[in-house]
Amino acid sequence: MTAVSALTAATVALVGLAAPAHAADPVLRDLAATKGVYYGTAVTSSKLSGTYGAITGAQFDSITPANEMKWGTVEPNRGSFSWAGADRVVNFAEANGQQVRGHTLVWHSQMPNWLANGSFSNTELRTIMNDHVTTEVTRYKGRIDHWDVVNEPLNEDGTMRTSKFYTQLGESYIADAFRAARAADPAAKLYINDYNTDGTGPKSNGMYSLVQRLKAQGVPIDGVGFQGHLILGQVPATLQANLQRFADLGVEVAITELDIRMTLPATAAKLAQQKTEFKAVTNACLAVARCEGVTVWGFTDSDSWIPDVFPGEGAATPYDAGFQPKPAYYGIAEALGWTGDGGGGDPGDPVPTTGCAVTYAVQSQWNTGFTAAVTVRNTGNSPVNGWTLRWTWPSGQSVTQAWNATVSQSGAQATAVNVAHNAAIAPGGSAGFGFNGAWSGGNTAPGAFTLNGAACTLALS
Ligand code: G3I
Repeated sequence: MTAVSALTAATVALVGLAAPAHAADPVLRDLAATKGVYYGTAVTSSKLSGTYGAITGAQFDSITPANEMKWGTVEPNRGSFSWAGADRVVNFAEANGQQVRGHTLVWHSQMPNWLANGSFSNTELRTIMNDHVTTEVTRYKGRIDHWDVVNEPLNEDGTMRTSKFYTQLGESYIADAFRAARAADPAAKLYINDYNTDGTGPKSNGMYSLVQRLKAQGVPIDGVGFQGHLILGQVPATLQANLQRFADLGVEVAITELDIRMTLPATAAKLAQQKTEFKAVTNACLAVARCEGVTVWGFTDSDSWIPDVFPGEGAATPYDAGFQPKPAYYGIAEALGWTGDGGGGDPGDPVPTTGCAVTYAVQSQWNTGFTAAVTVRNTGNSPVNGWTLRWTWPSGQSVTQAWNATVSQSGAQATAVNVAHNAAIAPGGSAGFGFNGAWSGGNTAPGAFTLNGAACTLALS
């Protein structure tokens, strides 16, 4: 394929893949616009095509590069810049009529090695920092709506984090970074951003005092970002009041990195609670006049940092790994004024049920081998998002090769795990896979199957 035809194909794919996933589903960016806020998502630039790109473009009116604008990415070697990922994000946003949150200019983490491990005089470090801010902000001048100028400057007790910048330059590094950013792009809104500052408490109080000090010094700070990396069942009750007290200082506020993680597996009850909590966080922003918008930190469970950092936890975003909207998505839509029905978890909605039926068929058999087809049907009323089917061989068979599932065997127990394209099984829907097996002596069909640990009914054919 030539570059031009590849580009055309990609464009056609984007247009052709209508997102949202269901025709009647609401469009978050349109709903948000009626409320005077934006709804955004963090993105991974290399994924911005196909279904991922289509949903990003259709549903959100602001995007944040999750990693592509960080110092370690854009300046891996001193004075040598690499803008490809960041450019992709900004170009995508412009093609889709979206704002961009630039993330992030000065942060203790994801620094390039030359910076993190280098020794610099205080003067030299200040120049390096100011030059970095100036270079990056200038490159995207007029194309970035909000910059996270300084990220995560605080300790949990509200004192200043002893980053390289703070240790060598003192608190004035923050004022300098904001001034350099303002000079480079006077139109961009300049934010300070942190986590665990969502509700009132020592860290939030530390941020409050810091913003007061910066304002008192005339530092050009426009907004405070509250990351919103939350845990199911622990959304701070003081979120709205906390946003309001910052707004009352004369700054904008925004939820910048919202996700609500849970202990896996995700059950229907947990997903219903998560819906309530995404709705509550969105409502908290809407209730504060100076809250400009909400950004989710990845819109799909297939693009979330949580499982990497918190083993055993996940399902933290509004779409599942197969790009199906979860109850949380409908919770956001409801907060934004949508009155349709979807997602479950509302009073009066049917109680979620799970269930499965398996059909196992030997399609052909020869002296030592056989080919079998397995179909798994979701007989519950809630979607299955990723599945593991297990069975035990009654007469010493083994799986030698499989398709449309990854099958492994330990002793007599066989385990089949979905592949990407059949991970999601809607209520009433089914997924199928096949395999070749070896047998000797007998080839009796398995007598029982479990799906994600729960027994299925069995229909032999
Ligand atoms: O790209 C490499 C890949 O080539 C390599 O094989 C793989 C092996 O570890 O790593 C990949 O890089 C990872 C990168 O994400 C891209 O996926 C890094 O290891 C990993 O550390 C990095 O994590 C990012 C994290 O910031 C770093 O602290 C997450 O994606 C990103 O979502 C997360 O975002 C932060 C915000 O910037 C600030 N607030 C908290 C938030 C969550 O930690």
